[in-house]
Amino acid sequence: MSYTHIIVTRQDNYAILQINRPDVLNALNIKLMEELVAALEVLDDDDAVHCIILTGNEKAFAAGADIKEMADASAMEMLKRDQFARWDRIRKIKKPIIAAVSGFALGGGCELAMTCDMVIASETAKFGQPEINIGVMPGAGGTQRLTRAVGKAKAMEMVLTGRLISADEALRWGLINKVVPVEYYLEEAKVWAKEIASKAPVAIRLAKESVLKAFDTTIEGGLEFERKNFYLLFSSEDQKEGMKAFVGKRKPEWKGK
Ligand code: CAA
Repeated sequence: MSYTHIIVTRQDNYAILQINRPDVLNALNIKLMEELVAALEVLDDDDAVHCIILTGNEKAFAAGADIKEMADASAMEMLKRDQFARWDRIRKIKKPIIAAVSGFALGGGCELAMTCDMVIASETAKFGQPEINIGVMPGAGGTQRLTRAVGKAKAMEMVLTGRLISADEALRWGLINKVVPVEYYLEEAKVWAKEIASKAPVAIRLAKESVLKAFDTTIEGGLEFERKNFYLLFSSEDQKEGMKAFVGKRKPEWKGK
């Protein structure tokens, strides 16, 4: 498949999806989001891909939704475009997604990073929900995912002041996983992707699904869900292989089934 605003590269058993609209700091217009979601779904369906890295460039992961594209829209046009519905499809991707962030991750860019499962950032990364400065508010999950990630006080601070936070603050606040010098952010994400891609794929899929379940269920419902997924894994060949390999003191060979 050929794309205009993204670049997809496959490496061994993981893939890198790069957002590529550098002239506008990777602003997320409708076409870009269409391509990004379609590419994620293709990679999700590909058994050879076990993990996905989502990245931008050194200057910007993404500076938000494309302001020029929506500046003159009416509420009815926005409703009809329903552009954020596309984001729900990202939430349904089963493979783990690691965001490798450098530079600006603002508005929809910060929301996109939060939609990923883990975030590796460069020291130069800046996160923020600055929509308040242009007379709106987050619309792609910012008020919900940010609040769950950093708590009410910090979420209010970011959403109501529009202030940007540094990578170190984002790390301290629990928004991201690791901060590295700018030369290494993509390399570090690759190390994580390779590690995750080396695990049993079905266990990875059900583990991701179970962690995400914690966001929209009661503790009781979540524990029940987790338990069923745990039991389900005992019908996989990889569970038999993993446990036999442990007992036999050898490396497991995963079949992905
Ligand atoms: N949409 C469209 N174009 C954007 C953009 C965006 N979100 N962010 C940057 N650009 C464009 C600029 O218009 C500029 O284009 P031109 O060269 O054609 O003028 C180019 O990218 C470079 O940007 P700047 O000259 O502004 O670069 P800077 O280094 O001086 O500033 C910045 C960088 C602080 C990130 C600034 O560009 C900025 O504030 N951008 C907007 C950030 C923002 O408000 N994001 C939220 C968008 S709304 C949203 O995302 C809603 C949602 O919930 C999904």
